[in-house]
Amino acid sequence: MVYLDNNATTPIDPAVSEKMSEFLKSQFGNPSSLYPIGREVKEKITSYRELVAKALGADRSEIFFTGSGTESDNFAIKGVIEANPEKNEFITSAIEHPAVLETANYLEKMGTKVTYVPVDRQGMIDLDFLRNALTSKTALVSIMHANNEVGTIQPIEKICKLAKEYGALVHTDAVQSFGKIDVKVKKLGLDLLSVSAHKIYGPKGIGALYIRKGTKINPFIHGGHQERRLRAGTENTAGIIGFGEAVRIMLERGDKDKKHIEKLASKLKEGIEKNIPKVPFNGHPTERIKGTLNFSFLGLEAEAILLSLATKEIYVSTGSACSEDSEDVSHVLRALGLKPEVARSTIRMSLGRFNTEQDVDFVLKELPVIIAKLREISALDIDEY
Ligand SMILES: Cc1ncc(COP(=O)(O)O)c(C=O)c1O
Repeated sequence: MVYLDNNATTPIDPAVSEKMSEFLKSQFGNPSSLYPIGREVKEKITSYRELVAKALGADRSEIFFTGSGTESDNFAIKGVIEANPEKNEFITSAIEHPAVLETANYLEKMGTKVTYVPVDRQGMIDLDFLRNALTSKTALVSIMHANNEVGTIQPIEKICKLAKEYGALVHTDAVQSFGKIDVKVKKLGLDLLSVSAHKIYGPKGIGALYIRKGTKINPFIHGGHQERRLRAGTENTAGIIGFGEAVRIMLERGDKDKKHIEKLASKLKEGIEKNIPKVPFNGHPTERIKGTLNFSFLGLEAEAILLSLATKEIYVSTGSACSEDSEDVSHVLRALGLKPEVARSTIRMSLGRFNTEQDVDFVLKELPVIIAKLREISALDIDEY
């Protein structure tokens, strides 16, 4: 199998699943219990909270475990908007993950004024538009760090500086950037930041939200005292252990993954561009997550490519994992200005820690043949694009 869908989810690192299964077999205590078997679990959670904080350049008290990246986004956005009713304006971008866009949609229905910042052809947000949209009533700006479909990295430092001039808080969805580029909350100037474990070789169903000390935010789940009363409910202890262990491995490996992925991705990109005609590349030439490759194979339907590749056990995506079952053209590619027929011919390949040089060689051997065959039988005329 050649798995090239690491932006959808990453395979769990064997060291992570081992740590989790050891923990599940031996430690069942409730971290809120005061006797030793509870306290031991509580201590483990604390030490892993500390590790997540370290990876983000934050303080341990600023990290809140959640049930997913989606929940972190919901928590940040609804929590801040609800806690600041005197300021009822929210700004986001047109290319956010549905976790942010659908939350914005909900808030709009509840009476919040929402502004969507457009992006250019390379997926970079329009900073002048953002400057003009900011007012003293803006409670929160939420712009993603790196896009999940095309990988474009947004200028978060500049966004934070601009927002501060208007007294607005800034949240970023760093689900796709965490573990791939430097994500330090203080350096970037952020108030809130979302991450998710299953994109960094950890388990699914566990995420975290960084909330800068002193940020006015409402609880997301009401109940007991867990997560400093902001996200109640007995902790997903095994999930936290897995997440923390994935972060520990990430810190230990330093920039090994980054170098490995960049080398493979650049070989794959060059190979595709050299061997297959009419394949425009989508995304930013430099400001992007290098392991994300997004190509339009003009004249073809992406699904046909995906299914042909799957017969060779090569797994890619036609867009964001969350829109896979939707008939719609990807909102990200639409926002970039791609024609619908071009967007429909688009494939995302995302590389990860466990990909190898052989994987790339195999794709470069199979893909040109598949594209040539499909184009031979395609009714669409490439030259019309
Ligand atoms: C940018 C981005 N935000 C949020 C999410 C959602 O994270 P989770 O799957 O943990 O809910 C994803 C997952 O695809 C993502 O790519």
